[in-house]
Amino acid sequence: MKLLETVKINQWNLQSRVVMAPMTRSFADLETGVIHPDTVAYYAKRAKHGVGMIITEGIAVSPEARGTIGIPGLYTEDQTEAWKEVTAQVHQEGGIIIAQLWHVGRLSHSAITGGLQPVAPSAVQANGLTHRVGLPYETPKAMSEEDIQKVIQDFTKAAINAQLAGFDGVEIHAAHGYLIDQFQFPW
Ligand SMILES: Cc1cc2nc3c(=O)[nH]c(=O)nc-3n(C[C@H](O)[C@H](O)[C@H](O)COP(=O)(O)O)c2cc1C
Repeated sequence: MKLLETVKINQWNLQSRVVMAPMTRSFADLETGVIHPDTVAYYAKRAKHGVGMIITEGIAVSPEARGTIGIPGLYTEDQTEAWKEVTAQVHQEGGIIIAQLWHVGRLSHSAITGGLQPVAPSAVQANGLTHRVGLPYETPKAMSEEDIQKVIQDFTKAAINAQLAGFDGVEIHAAHGYLIDQFQFPW
């Protein structure tokens, strides 16, 4: 079957044409954002059974980028160090792994960010409740030019950490109503 044949995309020789979509798992340590040790086996198993390319779950670029509990990060040394085992095992099983870098903007809560007010292009509260935490979204801080520069730096730092951790690339999550997408909203 064609789907299970190898394919060369840019510098990568994928072991199949199957690409795993990013899926939030909420396995990470609630305080530190360091992945749970089971995360290594979780991703390695997918590569072992033939997935050509894995796009990871959304990975926070800063504490305020997190939209729910258990979201892993790539903004501290400990987080970066822990991801090294995942990329090593996936590579050993013949897979390619891309880190999805994520900032949820207003779709967060100070109870999740460690007391930081969520940020967004405008101070407009989202409808509904925070995922898994169940608290109503808060009115975010409208980002200043300085706040925007900080987020750009956060994405840059997380991309550098992804490279240090052995990822083959990064995907910037700019959809689903999260921060980058929020800049495209008409309000
Ligand atoms: C449990 C779960 C978690 C998800 N987490 C993410 C995520 O972290 N990042 C993302 O871009 N999409 C996420 N998605 C969306 C999926 O990657 C995918 O785009 C969606 O399921 C639609 O896929 P389809 O068009 O193949 O049906 C998630 C989906 C599910 C079911």
